[in-house]
This record gives sequence, C-alpha cells and structure tokens, in this order.
Amino acid sequence: MKRVGLLTSGGDCQALNATMRGIVKALSNNIDELEVYGFMNGYQGMIHGDYRLLTSKDFSGILTKGGTILGSSRTPFKTINDPDENGLNKVEAMMQNYYKLRLDCLYVLGGNGSQKTANLLSEKGLNVIHLPKTIDNDIWGTDMTFGFYSAVNIATEAIDCIHTTAASHNRVFIVEIMGHKVGWLTLYAGIAGGADVILIPEIPYRIDKVIEAINKRTKSGKGFTVLAVAEGAVCADDLKLSKKEYKKKMESNHYPSVAYELADQILAKTGNEVRITVPGHTQRGGAPCPYDRALSTRLGVAGAKAFLDGEFGVMIGIVHDKTVRLPMKESAGKLKVVEKDNQFVKEAKMLGISFGDEDV
Ligand code: F6P
Repeated sequence: MKRVGLLTSGGDCQALNATMRGIVKALSNNIDELEVYGFMNGYQGMIHGDYRLLTSKDFSGILTKGGTILGSSRTPFKTINDPDENGLNKVEAMMQNYYKLRLDCLYVLGGNGSQKTANLLSEKGLNVIHLPKTIDNDIWGTDMTFGFYSAVNIATEAIDCIHTTAASHNRVFIVEIMGHKVGWLTLYAGIAGGADVILIPEIPYRIDKVIEAINKRTKSGKGFTVLAVAEGAVCADDLKLSKKEYKKKMESNHYPSVAYELADQILAKTGNEVRITVPGHTQRGGAPCPYDRALSTRLGVAGAKAFLDGEFGVMIGIVHDKTVRLPMKESAGKLKVVEKDNQFVKEAKMLGISFGDEDV
C-alpha cells in the first residue's frame, strides 16, 4: 500500500484540478494499492488535520474545472515558524499529520511562498514534490507555470474588448493586469492584445515617456491609446525617493493602485480622458485553457514518475518542452523576473510598443 497527500496552496489558478488528476491517474495506473489524502485549504488542512480520503470519483470530470476541489489558503512562509493563535507549532503539526497518515509523499501545488514551506518540510525529512502553479509565471527553474496561459487569455480578451470601445470614443485606456511583482502576464497579454504601451515592474517607467508615446499616437492620427499596466509597475521617480519618503507617499496616497495614479498624471499632462479597467481575479478564474490542461497533465504525470522513482525534494518544471526535476532548495525563494534584455521586450519595442523607458 502506498499513501500520498495532496494540497493546493496560495492564490488559486486554473488547472490545479487538472494537475491533481494527472498525478493521481498516473499513480493509480502504476500502483496496485494506493490511498490519496487531500488536505483541505492548503497548509491549513495539514496543520489542523483537516483531510479527506479521496477516491477516483473525486478526480473524474475535473480536467476542465477551475479553482481547486481541495480549497486553498495563504499560509505565509515568514510566519510558518510562529505558533498559531492556539499556540500550536505549525511545522510540527504538519509533520505529525504526515506521519499519522503514514504518507509516502506529499504533493504541494503552489507558488513561490508555498514552495518555501514545501522545501522546509522536505528539509525536515518529509518526502515532498512541488508542482509550480501561478498565473504570475514567476517561479524560477521552470519555463512555464500552469495557470499562466489561461490568465493570458483572459487578460488578452479584456484588452481586446477595451480596444473597440477605446477606438470608438478616442480615449486613453489603462488595463491593469495582475502578476504581483513581475511583468510576464502583462507582457504576454499586452503584446497579444496589441497594447500600445506596456508597463511592467522590471522596467520602471517615466511619466514623460508614457506621455510622449500617447502624444505620438495622437499626432499620427490615432485618437486612442491602450496601456497594459502591471499591478506592480513602478514609476522611476518613486525609485528616487528614500525609503522614508516612499513610505510617506504611499501612506498619503489615495490611489487604490498604480493605474489610478497614472490615469491622473495622463489627464493632467495631456487633457485626455482616461478610463481604467481592472480584470482582477477574473484572470484566475474559470476553466483552464487547452495549453494549461495539457501542461498540467504533463507535470502531474512527471510528478507521479518522480514518486515511482523515489525522487523527492524536487519541483517538477518544464524546460524547452521537456519535464524536469529540479531540487527545491535551488529554486525556493528565487523569483523569475523579466530580464531587461528579454527578447520578447526587444521585439515589442521593434513594433513601436513603449515600455515607458525610451525615446519614442
Ligand atoms: O499570485 C497570484 C495573484 O493573483 C497575483 O497576481 C496577485 O497580486 C495576487 O495573487 C492577488 O492575491 P489575492 O487573491 O490574495 O488578492
């Protein structure tokens, strides 16, 4: 008899269910006696002993289902060693539940933060395998995370819809795109949606350059401009502030996000009417796109294979279209960012797309 545990941790995304299905299908096809336990709501379920014995029925018909059948929660790594509100040692509690269920392996489907906790549990001696999920695509060591392309589709559709109304009204539109501290989602959706300006955290923008790009379009007879702006985009002027000054600015800032501050600046400097669209959590919702269904199934199968080979403490990634196993300790805590010399950025600039950092 082999026993494995599954948990989905952090912000949800598309294809979490498809990944679990891939793991369990591949395991049950290759192991005669298998028990699968699902911890509910991420690490919280593992801490508090909230789990369910899952059967093949649980994995039937979930390839296309968004969200996660196990539920998810954020359990910040920085507080993982602090006792919970009842004085419970969270790491010990998770280990006890692992041993109580006599698990042979724990599969963690999660992003960067969840990977750090997975790595900690692995260092404590548990057999852990991590599968990289996130719409942000910011996990170091894998070309792609599942969820990313589904979110690109949704963000692109939002930009597509904005295009027609922006053109009809000759307006400037900002579409604020998720991605946390990195710009992958904005870069891909911005290019796929034909945005005129793309602002990402890795390339701090200058407001005068953004205005230049808008004015250039106006002069060329295009009355509208669509900006794809990452939620984490940074204004270069803010980088000049000391930590104290920046903190003061943020505290007194009445803008809900960077898009709103930018909109005010554009209005003040060009007189252009600016509208903001925030697709927000729709980017994480709904059914996974076909690419994510295929990717997550591949990663799930590769995760099952790692178990069958007895290899633990690894993240299953995809590099040059091949699944790989990467020691978790190598990627835990490292962000995969859009490098300044990223080829896609250069290509976008060749098209005349402004990143707010260059003369146009
Ligand atoms: O990491 C995924 C993500 O959707 C980010 O893009 C975003 O910044 C964050 O999660 C939002 O988190 P929450 O769902 O907790 O608001």
